Amino acid sequence: MDRIPVAGPWITSKEIDYVADAAEVCWYDRAWEYNARFEEAFAAYIGCKHAVTMPSCTSAIHLSLAALGVGPGAEVIVPEITWIASAAPIHYLGATTVFADVDRKTWCLSAESFERAITERTKAVVPVDLYGNMPDMDQIRAIAKKHNVHIVEDAAQAIGTEYKGKRAGGFGDAGVFSFHGSKTLTTGEGGMLCTDSDDMLARIRVLRDHGRKPGDNLFWNTEIAYKYKMTSFQAAMGLGQLERVSELLTKKREIFQWYREGLQDVEGITLNTDGENVFNTYWMVTIILDSSLGLKKEEFGKMLGEKKIDSRPFFYPLSQLPAYAHLDSAKGAEQRNPVAYELSPYGINLPSALSLTRDQVQFVCETVRSIVQSKRLAKV
Ligand SMILES: Cc1ncc(COP(=O)(O)O)c(C=O)c1O
Repeated sequence: MDRIPVAGPWITSKEIDYVADAAEVCWYDRAWEYNARFEEAFAAYIGCKHAVTMPSCTSAIHLSLAALGVGPGAEVIVPEITWIASAAPIHYLGATTVFADVDRKTWCLSAESFERAITERTKAVVPVDLYGNMPDMDQIRAIAKKHNVHIVEDAAQAIGTEYKGKRAGGFGDAGVFSFHGSKTLTTGEGGMLCTDSDDMLARIRVLRDHGRKPGDNLFWNTEIAYKYKMTSFQAAMGLGQLERVSELLTKKREIFQWYREGLQDVEGITLNTDGENVFNTYWMVTIILDSSLGLKKEEFGKMLGEKKIDSRPFFYPLSQLPAYAHLDSAKGAEQRNPVAYELSPYGINLPSALSLTRDQVQFVCETVRSIVQSKRLAKV
């Protein structure tokens, strides 16, 4: 049997035909046709005014923070549990990264911890819609408004997720998405920046094209900026995927349901939550093991690997990583952010690829059950 993949896309002839078409027609005056179509359809889907194609979500976060004026002397707050891409652009801009704790249920930014981390230097917060879930956005938005803090919503993992009926990516000054090959909607590599602000859009357009105004044909750069664009081939794939997004999301939710049924009688594990206010799209089906089992994520992942089941560890707290641990802002983070440090050692992402069959998920559930049972017996 092949290995069971942890993540991966679902591509049909629709996307392949669009990409082939882009390769044929998207040159000369038609160069950006698919980008424009993808952007327009994406903005309509999210319910935002503007959407701008990007080469990655990392670049979208970088540009959003740059457009909001984040720079040396500013502080930006991020949740501990996320991929480093949510935070790395803060460093690119010479600002200070401030780590906040996560909520025990949603595993996303804790509103209380966010408020505690605010100082007079706080310029922005990057709440993350982790694994397709969302934090308490009402509270986060109210706190951000009260303290005049900008929001860049990192919806990289949450296409189609909803909070109180509104789609992820529409809750901040900017909302950003990733279309990396592991994501539910993919363009191989790629991203999108969404905003309702005309000023933000105008600034993004200059910053993404080496500091020149849209339409400039004199090669007249008014500042030193960046080159952040998506190819038409990726945009064509993205458009095809977006036209199939409800089918992609239905499969993701079905996979989660298979796991929920398959693992319902296994004691000592907690699956992703689907809070009252959130329509979770379960980018990664994740379990947190009860710490009393004494089974850490690295060992658990190795045991699954021996059965040819690929997995990923739950993210390590950012402040624990060698990339950040030496910084002043990471000192004492473990005491300030206990939930992140408590959950992280025992969390694991199970196979969540769009190609999964029910039999494969059943096999993963049986393997998880037998590992957990053998650990419990060993403890008695
Ligand atoms: C939460 C989060 N933010 C940002 C990113 C960065 O996305 P990209 O790889 O498209 O730059 C990712 C990618 O996995 C992510 O999971």
